[in-house]
Amino acid sequence: MWCSRVALRQLQRATAKTVCKAPAEGLVHREMSNLSRVYVTRQIPPDGLRILRESGQVEFDLWDSDDVPVPRKELLQKVKGVDALLCVLTEKIDAELLDAAGPNLKVLSTMSVGFDHLTLDQLKKRGVRVGYTPDVLTDAVAELTVALLLATSRRLIEATHEAKTGGWGTWRTLWLCGHELAGSTVGILGLGRIGVAIAERLAPFKVEKFLYSDVAPRPDLAAGIAAEHVSFDELARRSDFLLVCCALTPETQMICNKELFSKMKSTSIFINTSRGGVVNQDHLYEALSTHQIAGAGLDVTVPEPLPTDHPLFTLKNCVILPHIASASYTTRNAMSSLAANNLLLGLRGEPMIKELKL
Ligand code: DGY
Repeated sequence: MWCSRVALRQLQRATAKTVCKAPAEGLVHREMSNLSRVYVTRQIPPDGLRILRESGQVEFDLWDSDDVPVPRKELLQKVKGVDALLCVLTEKIDAELLDAAGPNLKVLSTMSVGFDHLTLDQLKKRGVRVGYTPDVLTDAVAELTVALLLATSRRLIEATHEAKTGGWGTWRTLWLCGHELAGSTVGILGLGRIGVAIAERLAPFKVEKFLYSDVAPRPDLAAGIAAEHVSFDELARRSDFLLVCCALTPETQMICNKELFSKMKSTSIFINTSRGGVVNQDHLYEALSTHQIAGAGLDVTVPEPLPTDHPLFTLKNCVILPHIASASYTTRNAMSSLAANNLLLGLRGEPMIKELKL
């Protein structure tokens, strides 16, 4: 754990530095130079923008807002003829967009660990290299997952609401009781770096047993947290807390559905900080409203934002956050630096710091 923390800090420091060799020259127009043309689809955190600006390697145009995503029509215009694109997870990078960009496009760098917004076979077909931002967000996501789990299992949102709105009467013996981690079994669906980091943080809460389910056993990762590999069925049946940490793929699309919920204990808590598409939300609503399961904490939904009149918002036993798992200043800056450096390295034809193998 100590070693991985040191490695992570080194990665964060390395990604915060510009990996350019050229002197900083500011923004120079293409007509006057051989700078690569880049479009950045969002006003990303300052470290990444500084790296691009100071690289002396690119000129970039940017959708200069963090509050609203670039409209698709504008995006399709802006990508025409660019050499590289730096995007975030709200932009669908598909055949239409790649056609609009045209043959100059060599690099796509996404400021995210998830890549379900990218049509990988189309990128591969066109020979576009893809950078992404794993590892630098592991701590932040694990931390938020623990916070969401506790908020859900110990009913913190309900409790603050009651305290503020007059529901707080005398001290009562069973009022606002929840479920505790001590002595529990925690199940992880999809064991990767993030699942391990969550388990490491939960272990001091005296969790008795960690289980995980994945396409294949991951003994290398599981050993450190003494986690047992079990079938998806067994994970559902035995877990007191079921944490979704898998990527969204065609195989995991709506994998958490009524079949899963019907096998879970009525006292169990379901937590999802991966992608909303992994869950059938109608089935989850049914499971929560009939108390088939005790509660759910969701950082991700379909769609995002989830409309405020969505039925899930009516449930006291469902805590919904607006996709903030990686939202710490340190992590978002590290993600933007890594995305910028991946892009610059890719344009130079060098290995990226974090590249998806297509
Ligand atoms: C990601 O990077 O994919 C997260 O969902 C947001 O940080």
